[in-house]
Amino acid sequence: MCGITALLLADPNLMASPELFEGLNMLQHRGQDAAGIVTCGNKGRFYQSKGTGMVREVFDQPKLMQLIGNMGVGHVRYPTAGTQSSSEAQPFYVNSPYGIVFAHNGNLVNADELREFLDQDAHRHINTESDSELLLNIFANNLQKTGKFRINEEDIFAAIKGIFDVCRGGYACVAMIAGFGIIGFRDPHGIRPVGFAKRQSDKGTDYMFASESVVCDGCSFSDFEDLRPGEAVIVTKKQQVTRRQLVENPTFSPCIFEYVYFSRPDSIIDGISVYKCRLAMGEALADQVIKKLGVDHDIDVIIPVPDTSRVAALQTAYKLDITYREGFIKNRYIGRTFIMPGQAMRKKTVRRKFNAMSLEFAGKNVLIVDDSIVRGTTSKEIVQMARDAGARKVYLASCAPAIRFPNVYGIDMPSRHELVAYGKTEDEIAAYVGADRVIFQELSGLKASCEKFNRSITTWDASVFDGKYVTGDVSEKYLLHLESLRADGNKGCLDDLASPETLGLHNFALHMK
Ligand SMILES: *[C@@H]1O[C@H](CO)[C@@H](O)[C@H](O)[C@H]1NC(C)=O
Repeated sequence: MCGITALLLADPNLMASPELFEGLNMLQHRGQDAAGIVTCGNKGRFYQSKGTGMVREVFDQPKLMQLIGNMGVGHVRYPTAGTQSSSEAQPFYVNSPYGIVFAHNGNLVNADELREFLDQDAHRHINTESDSELLLNIFANNLQKTGKFRINEEDIFAAIKGIFDVCRGGYACVAMIAGFGIIGFRDPHGIRPVGFAKRQSDKGTDYMFASESVVCDGCSFSDFEDLRPGEAVIVTKKQQVTRRQLVENPTFSPCIFEYVYFSRPDSIIDGISVYKCRLAMGEALADQVIKKLGVDHDIDVIIPVPDTSRVAALQTAYKLDITYREGFIKNRYIGRTFIMPGQAMRKKTVRRKFNAMSLEFAGKNVLIVDDSIVRGTTSKEIVQMARDAGARKVYLASCAPAIRFPNVYGIDMPSRHELVAYGKTEDEIAAYVGADRVIFQELSGLKASCEKFNRSITTWDASVFDGKYVTGDVSEKYLLHLESLRADGNKGCLDDLASPETLGLHNFALHMK
């Protein structure tokens, strides 16, 4: 998963970089592996700074001051497929035609085909494993074909339509064309989110695109609107806004996992408050608890695994009329682990992150609520911690259904055989994680929890739960390819922050001292 944003300020004398930085900080939960900002100065020159690490590690005041210009694009990365090197940090840039900067969130399922086309037909060199580079080069190639000295909105829309025609997968994108303006678009199924908002200023209207509405809220923008599936929006330097639906009758199927886990609770995506929908998931989960354990269950206390599942767990407790308690305390300042040669890692990562308070567990039958169960390794540790803290019975409930299939639209999921629920029954999963029982949300309950807030959405990308891929069948060959990319240890890890000294790729306005 990644986070994207783009900003255009009406006042040409202001700088976009400080607010892009703020915006990326608000998107940090979507990717902690790398961050980048590219701005465009008044003379049409781009200034970039990107590197591996958290947003606050990549940028500082002197760097932001060198990123001049009143428009720009920002990105935070959580690698899905590809490597961890800073050369693959987004945004990406191509010089021809016109100078384009591009950032995206998502994943393409026909990357091989596109790579071949770019090489053999378009003669464009692709230097990384990133899908962003593919999308950007398809876009650039389409614009190039106009053969024009200066382009207009029509040319850009045509170029984006060209992307929709050939690129299969989930992708939400922002782009910037030197001296022209900023652009946002969303794949024909609207799998990944992106919206835009505006703000009045002395010199006119400012515009901002972002993966989540919370970014626009945080920067005092209003009237946030989601892009529709297959839609593109162009905002020119003169603040002319043009929207165009480029795909007729698209099947809207947004990713349901955004609501379960990825998005911030204070975001509203496609008209659905993530917070409200998590409350509804908690209620639906309460129904499952009764269904599985009966009305005369013996649960004494409900305890969430912080932070995501808190909202839902509270509502489950409320509906079941069971005490809700915070039994796991999270260390918010956890960083990298250092292991000295010859010493084994004594504490598992989970134990560095959470501590179980025995006063909430001792002698009690607890229902632990988590947002989802992926590999089951964390769950296993959590259950063991509850037992060590003196719990009598440990039930584990998941706000999401069992994850049995890989994700091909940009969510970083392990390969199939690493998924705890792959080919296992509920009892087998319970045995694996060491719980007395596991209780999963039903997919219908999850869907209903989201749909009740926007009746116009009736289909979802819920492929990790049901194995149905909305963009059409995903080949076994592709799944194996994806798994091999992820198996190489290429994937970022939340707990192992990349070291800031790998910072690279800066192109500043002035030489830095
Ligand atoms: C529901 O979602 C669609 C698609 O994003 C959007 O057009 C519509 O405005 C939303 N409805 C509400 C009530 O927000």
